Amino acid sequence: MGNVLIVDDDVASCRTLQLHLSAEGHQVRVAHDVNSGLDAVRAVAPDLLILDIRMPGKSGLEGLPEFTALLPGLHVIMITAFHDMESTIEAVQLGAEEYIHKPIDIDELDAAVDKILRQSSGELVRTGCGDADHLTMVGGSRAMKEVFKTIGLVARSRATVLITGESGTGKELVAHAIHRSGERPDGPFVVVNCAALVETLLESDMFGHEKGAFTGAVHRQLGKFALANNGTIFLDEIGELSPAMQAKLLRVLQYKEFTPLGAKQPQVSNARIITATNLDLESRVAAGHFREDLYYRLQVVNIHLPPLRERLEDLPPLVDSLLRRINKELHRSVSLITREALEAFHSYPWPGNVRELENTLLKAVALSSGNTLSLDQLPRTLRAGSAGAEGGGPPASALPTLAELERNQVRKTLEAVGWHKGKACEVLGVSRPRLRRMLRDYGIEAPSANEADD
Ligand SMILES: Nc1ncnc2c1ncn2[C@@H]1O[C@H](COP(=O)(O)OP(=O)(O)OP(=O)(O)O)[C@@H](O)[C@H]1O
Ligand SMILES: [Mg+2]
Repeated sequence: MGNVLIVDDDVASCRTLQLHLSAEGHQVRVAHDVNSGLDAVRAVAPDLLILDIRMPGKSGLEGLPEFTALLPGLHVIMITAFHDMESTIEAVQLGAEEYIHKPIDIDELDAAVDKILRQSSGELVRTGCGDADHLTMVGGSRAMKEVFKTIGLVARSRATVLITGESGTGKELVAHAIHRSGERPDGPFVVVNCAALVETLLESDMFGHEKGAFTGAVHRQLGKFALANNGTIFLDEIGELSPAMQAKLLRVLQYKEFTPLGAKQPQVSNARIITATNLDLESRVAAGHFREDLYYRLQVVNIHLPPLRERLEDLPPLVDSLLRRINKELHRSVSLITREALEAFHSYPWPGNVRELENTLLKAVALSSGNTLSLDQLPRTLRAGSAGAEGGGPPASALPTLAELERNQVRKTLEAVGWHKGKACEVLGVSRPRLRRMLRDYGIEAPSANEADD
């Protein structure tokens, strides 16, 4: 199913096409000249344009570049008269992917439309297809089954999805799964990290820029929203967006429209928007840091990934699947794990969630010589975790809280990497802003002689 726009001055032929394509399950709009066609693109951001060449006023050939400037990546089928080979060639050069001849043969049309809007198979959540096994999601816990079910339900709609959960819980993996189970699995999946860049760079990354829009903008550049047309855009760490960027994103959600830096005309986007955050957005809204209207538009559907420590029954299948991935990567065949080691996994709180589990396994496999993974290949924090704290078996009240564990781990890591924050982020598997927040919240400061960074 797709969103189709037909632009043809021949009212009868438009009507026939519209009836046929609607019966095939597509949403179809018609316009009878180029200018009203452009208006329709602004209104509905179609997946596919069927454009007639011969029209009074602007011809289809003249209109084509305007359509693709407004909605880069728009799929186009041209309708050409049989004898008119020259305009057919020109249409293809201008970027039309297919052309069909008049009088229209319905089979030929269906084949062209199908080719462009290829439908994916009917599975709910696609996992483990082909060699893409770094995208396979596993989990047998109730919480994860719920997540898989929701992915299946929302994938086929174009609803905006907000994925929440601590760092390393699998948010990006969920975004991928939604994309691959959706209507346009072969379309682009484009990731934007909203926290990684300074504001102007982020704006140009998202929306693109014209040549000369700012110092260093030597070429015109398409932004991620344009690249994600006919696919999905994944906005990671959305909670870090500045107020100005929040306003611009709201505009995309409201009017499907954005303006590249330095451009006079807005462009249209039909990308599906999926966002993720490890912040509590609701409290950011309450504190006035995040726009409430944007929040409500983003979380039409909310998928929450619980931390790993709250779904420890996922550990065995995760360990199994991650080990297989790691073995393949390192050309190893570690397939056994001692009971003690697995117990240590069960008593550790996993502040870095699945990513931390993955890193732990990776290091352990690298250190092991045989095909068995045992306790002594695990980091000390994990080994100590199974006994609560040093000395073993203290009363429950003497056990550290999660925040204390996190604080100690952050401090230890920073010390180990010589207070190099970039390295610490890598080791801990957290983002820069997250590390910054932890330093602030836990009052951790670098020794003054040692303000190492980057
Ligand atoms: N259920 C799962 N099954 C298999 N692998 C998983 C699962 N969840 C997470 N992973 C793996 O853990 C790692 C972290 O996942 P991902 O990058 O999706 O987390 P995230 O929530 O986006 O983290 P962050 O907030 O730090 O960006 C990835 O390598 C991913 O493949
Ligand atoms: Mg992520």
